[in-house]
Amino acid sequence: MSNNGIFISFEGIDGAGKSTHIDALKQIFAAQGRAVTQTREPGGTPLAEKLRTLVLLDPMDAMTEALLVFAARRDHLQQVIEPALARGDVVLCDRFTDATFAYQGGGRGFDHETLTYLERLVQTTRTLEGFFVRQPDLTIWFDLAPQIAAERLAGARVPDKFESQPVEFFARVRAGYQARLESQPKRFARIEADQSRTAVWQDLLATVQQRKWLP
Ligand code: TMP
Repeated sequence: MSNNGIFISFEGIDGAGKSTHIDALKQIFAAQGRAVTQTREPGGTPLAEKLRTLVLLDPMDAMTEALLVFAARRDHLQQVIEPALARGDVVLCDRFTDATFAYQGGGRGFDHETLTYLERLVQTTRTLEGFFVRQPDLTIWFDLAPQIAAERLAGARVPDKFESQPVEFFARVRAGYQARLESQPKRFARIEADQSRTAVWQDLLATVQQRKWLP
């Protein structure tokens, strides 16, 4: 196994069940002696967590939402993700830019070209080899039918601004994820989230093992 940093993001509509699997993957990497940075978006730094609260609770238009999540992402990349990758950590990030394309792009219908521009602006980074646009090395998409996700979420907790959206909104978010997968198929792994927790975990583990990041 190499000691280079590895950047893995986790995506899916609300209720798709990412969290326990991210925790479990962290344990497995740590047991292999890898340093792991576990983080989330929007959030991951004190400033980005403040922006998260605004985005999740305050009503605003789609452009404002997009600008705030990208502002949070910029701070998160600079303060946490880039330094962790430079140290050789495994970075496990609960959501990243695909969520912006899915939620603000798909769900809210915000302009795709502007999101692409912001993605390039915010994620451009400099290494010894030159400039490039930072992307996860692997994105695990927990794909679940919106109707099933809604049943899972019902009564679970007080819903935030997104969790309280109707099923049609999440159908558009899901289509947004599908479009991202089709545009960058090598980076994406789609996992059928409507299986037992054990089966989902086995799919996730196999995906990471295929990349030779775990034995
Ligand atoms: P979660 O961390 O509990 O999954 O909640 C984050 C919420 O924020 C979720 O509903 C998706 C939404 N979100 C966006 O709308 N745009 C984004 O760029 C990100 C990262 C999250």
